[in-house]
Amino acid sequence: MNISITKTTNPKQKPDQNDLGFGQYFTDHMFIMDYTEGKGWHDPRIVPYAPLELDPSCMVLHYGQAIFEGLKAYKTSKGEILLFRPEKNMERVNSSNDRLVIPRIDVDFGVKAIKELVKVDVDWIPDAPGTSLYIRPFIIATDPYLGVRPSNTYKFIIILSPVGAYYKEGINPVKIYVESNYVRAVKGGLGYAKTVANYASSLKAQVEAKHSGYTQVLWLDGIEKKYIEEVGTMNVFFKIDGEIITPSLEGSILPGITRMSTIELLKKSGIPVTERRISIEELYAAHAAGKLDEAFGTGTAAVISPIGEFNWNENSITVNEGKIGPVASKVYETITGIQSGDMEDAFGWTQK
Ligand code: COI
Repeated sequence: MNISITKTTNPKQKPDQNDLGFGQYFTDHMFIMDYTEGKGWHDPRIVPYAPLELDPSCMVLHYGQAIFEGLKAYKTSKGEILLFRPEKNMERVNSSNDRLVIPRIDVDFGVKAIKELVKVDVDWIPDAPGTSLYIRPFIIATDPYLGVRPSNTYKFIIILSPVGAYYKEGINPVKIYVESNYVRAVKGGLGYAKTVANYASSLKAQVEAKHSGYTQVLWLDGIEKKYIEEVGTMNVFFKIDGEIITPSLEGSILPGITRMSTIELLKKSGIPVTERRISIEELYAAHAAGKLDEAFGTGTAAVISPIGEFNWNENSITVNEGKIGPVASKVYETITGIQSGDMEDAFGWTQK
């Protein structure tokens, strides 16, 4: 399929690279492709960035049949543009689509659409340290219909946002509230899909944690509220007595691409990673025994977010004296080094 391109005649002013924050500014263009039952995906196009016109009965607005992705483009010091594992995001689109009964998208075509759009808005890619172009592909159900069933029409859209750090703390450790009341997902539910409902269900806990002075929450499993699942919108890793542990993917955890890259990177450096269930009791017991060396989140937006403190039922513990640890530092330096082209990509993760 050929992607048609209509360029804006009214380009926007670009924001100050040193004050981007996250997800506040959007580039001049977007990609749109439609799906119609019987016809398949059609009419891929790059058009000027503009509000969408949607029927108020549009199904996504009522039942949340929607999925999204997040990945980044980087400008290297040589002026090359790199994408980090974009095929993994498109593969995850289809995994999320299957769960949400949305028709699949050809992985190679999705990567091509991302590349074409990034090329059109290439001047928007910031190059100040710690900045990148965040790419947000998403799919929404568009039938004008109020009955509950999968839609027969969809839109696949990609928008771009020049970004700085996700958390204001940047790479400094965050304080995390262990959430024992609200849950994010349950096995058999939507947890492994990147779908809007998972983020909607996280908001209340996030607001309450913020109110108490915490940056985010640690999610426990939705049934026993015993096993650790994710931290905020990120996957979570621990170093206990020298061993790196991350919760195993059993259906309620998002299979993060930074999570996967962290595991592959550590394994290649001779540091094994154990994927298994880990309970909050085990974490606190490890801390009590002086064996909790490090804790950190992994995700596309922040890449690595070290955890300096946990509060579980008003019992606070400090990790690594509230400082970033050597494993989190190494993973951060290596992944961001490969992403930005400053470090050799021995894994073949980046695409020009
Ligand atoms: C990420 O860590 O990349 C996320 O999932 C955050 C995003 C929803 C803004």
